[in-house]
Amino acid sequence: MGSGEAWVVMRTGRAPSNIAVIKYWGKRDEKLILPVNSSISVTLNPDDLSATTTIAASPAFVADRLWLNGKEVSMESQRYKNCLREIRERANDVVDEQTGVHIKREDWLKLKLHIVSENNFPTAAGLASSAAGFACLVYTLAQLMGVNERYQGELSAIARLGSGSACRSLDGGFVKWDMGQKEDGADSIAVQIANETHWKDLVIFIAVVSSRQKEVSSTSGMQETVQTSPFLHFRAKDVVPKRIKEMEDAVARHDFSSFARITCADSNQFHATCLDTSPPIFYLNDTSKRLIGLVERWNTQEGSPQAAYTFDAGPNAVLFTTESNSSLLLQRLLFQFPPAPGVVLSSYVVGDLKTLELAGI
Ligand code: DP6
Repeated sequence: MGSGEAWVVMRTGRAPSNIAVIKYWGKRDEKLILPVNSSISVTLNPDDLSATTTIAASPAFVADRLWLNGKEVSMESQRYKNCLREIRERANDVVDEQTGVHIKREDWLKLKLHIVSENNFPTAAGLASSAAGFACLVYTLAQLMGVNERYQGELSAIARLGSGSACRSLDGGFVKWDMGQKEDGADSIAVQIANETHWKDLVIFIAVVSSRQKEVSSTSGMQETVQTSPFLHFRAKDVVPKRIKEMEDAVARHDFSSFARITCADSNQFHATCLDTSPPIFYLNDTSKRLIGLVERWNTQEGSPQAAYTFDAGPNAVLFTTESNSSLLLQRLLFQFPPAPGVVLSSYVVGDLKTLELAGI
């Protein structure tokens, strides 16, 4: 590589979003993003919810720059810097197939990047997530710079430095983020516990209750919870470790009853720790609570779980059911949230994921 030469090398990657069924909430190390407990998530189909990132490197670029959904954003945040630094340090010699340009490993330390990232999330969904974005950034950077994992999960540990939940978006199917024990975070990595074909008749609905931005971000919300909630420490130590094992077991056995019971219980406990925070944090609204009631009533009527709900740091619901029950769940949703003049109820069905926009707020 010589300076002054006019060339650009590029790579494009795509990474999906994920929904936690055992929640990550609280860090034991803010800088390294090390969690107080392990978590488990389901990876969504990238055709439905994902980030696509193109990264270009050229000696003509004078600074690292980033555009998110068409708008330039600052790369001053330590989270971006940490991800870029870790990948640059692991870069290898690369001969670009398209241009024939040979880039040496030490060149990557000097080469500046232009990064363009887009989410394919339905704009109304209000589901913008840093998980897909940082997973995609790290994955695409690694492709561009010829980085190979020296140990399994190494890239997930780098994505974790961008956003905790991002480490779970580098694999499909069901993914566990092991909290790890080491101080440097090298063992705080994500591992796939079952692949995307493992549980084919599990159906996921996203019920969009509000497309408004959340008032308290996950990052600052969990910080306040760690500082003020005694309940969080009980949850992390005495509840989650057992639940992780039970959830792994339920997934392995396609045991929908256990999966649903643990998923709902963990969502509720996460929101209880938010309420135990001082001042309390409320992410659920009245529509969210009606959705919880709808699922709980159905499960009680049938005497066993037919559906499950989970809510992240916002009022939108992610609902799980089985293929054979999916039209019944839709019927119940439409009965509770009937389309009416002046009221929006749109639904779009994309692949296995059904996204509903609910009226009622
Ligand atoms: C409620 O990963 O967004 O979605 O690590 O500070 O970037 P940072 O937080 P983030 O938190 C996600 C919290 C959650 C639960 C989960 O995904 O496990």
